[in-house]
Amino acid sequence: MKREQWSSNLGFLLAAAGSAIGLGNLWKFPYIAGSNGGAVFLMLYLVLLILLGTPLLLAEMAVGRATRLNAIDACRAIHPRWGFVGAAGVVGAFVILSYYSVIGGWVLKYLFAYMQHSRLGDADAYYTGFVTRPLEPVLWHLLFAACCCGIVAFGVSKGIERISKIFLPVLLLTLIAIGGYALTLPGASQGLRFLFLPDFSQIHSFSDFASILVRAMGQVFFSLSIGMGTLITYGSYLDRKANLQKNAVLIPLFDLVIALLAGIAILPCVFSFGLEPSAGSGLLFRSLPYVFDHMRGGRWLAIGFFALVFLAAVTSAISLLESIAAFFIDHLHWNRIAAAGLSTLGFALIGVANSLSMGLWNSFTLFGMSLFDLMVFLSDNVLMPIGGFFLCILASRIWGFSSMLREISSNGQYAIRFPGALRWILRWLAPAMILVIFAVSLF
Ligand code: PFF
Repeated sequence: MKREQWSSNLGFLLAAAGSAIGLGNLWKFPYIAGSNGGAVFLMLYLVLLILLGTPLLLAEMAVGRATRLNAIDACRAIHPRWGFVGAAGVVGAFVILSYYSVIGGWVLKYLFAYMQHSRLGDADAYYTGFVTRPLEPVLWHLLFAACCCGIVAFGVSKGIERISKIFLPVLLLTLIAIGGYALTLPGASQGLRFLFLPDFSQIHSFSDFASILVRAMGQVFFSLSIGMGTLITYGSYLDRKANLQKNAVLIPLFDLVIALLAGIAILPCVFSFGLEPSAGSGLLFRSLPYVFDHMRGGRWLAIGFFALVFLAAVTSAISLLESIAAFFIDHLHWNRIAAAGLSTLGFALIGVANSLSMGLWNSFTLFGMSLFDLMVFLSDNVLMPIGGFFLCILASRIWGFSSMLREISSNGQYAIRFPGALRWILRWLAPAMILVIFAVSLF
């Protein structure tokens, strides 16, 4: 069977940017940046994006395009004993999807709630009442999972590429519109100061600085979708002539621009209403609904905003689902619809348990964490760093640096920029830094 391909490099670029841009940009970045020294965090983030993000993206794409296989078989094709790197990625993709899809379901619920009502009322009570219910959040989660399954079942260029091409322009325009409006609110400048001014009062010692560094690294990994085999999979559908170096610069650039725009759109709103900024579900489902409820035209802004978050979450989730489904398609020769359907069934079932762990099953904990929190911990603190670490070793040492360079240069068609630095980063710097995040985040 002929392997599917992106219809153009632009299609790949938008799909890979769609994978990178997700909840990580919209609900994590603004808060993490603001509460970790503002501009200090931004500078470190930028350095790490260039130093770690670009080389790791290049390595993942090169492995995928050279082998034209799913993550597990791609790693195995490079060395028969190294399939475990891809396997860690596929397991990680399952784990991330199992909670990402639950949150995607909440986003859908809020979107529909604002379509029906002009205000949600007490935002805290609304959120807690909803997520702890046994059935309703599960149904929204299943709806979100079904959307992802439908897109992946349509295939690489007809499904994933098509939705990604709509996504990025819509996201940019909506964020610019919301940002423009947010900046006119009284007190907006406080939000910008939180994000952009360096706040040295948060850094008293070397250990404060190290902890900011570790957070910045974790955010680079999560935000760029590194270490989960999604870019190996997306890269495997890429034309041999596409310029990997250009893609490895543009993907982080898009991701950064969207994260900054999200900060400019969200933080001024939060500060203007005298709220404390927060991260994660607190920001999206408690603070922002409060803001929308109390602002003129807030309902329409809420609908635009939640539709946007939904699109961002879907284009990230489909990259994870594709990297699981590709294994079943390549390795077991399943047809695409069966592969997408069964992979969805798998993560959706774990997702049901995750959703129930917010309410009905909340007394059940493992290592002191609810199932939901455990999944987040497992993916962010264990599987992603493991995947990233071994990917560096696989690409730069096991495969061999010169083979990787040959792939990156499309067999000599493009000149390689900074080959010495790339080699040093993939062989030494990136693995060492990942080991540090891993150790610090575990202990
Ligand atoms: N990058 C996505 C985000 O920022 O929300 C999350 C993600 C997608 C992580 C795909 C890992 C992945 F493989």
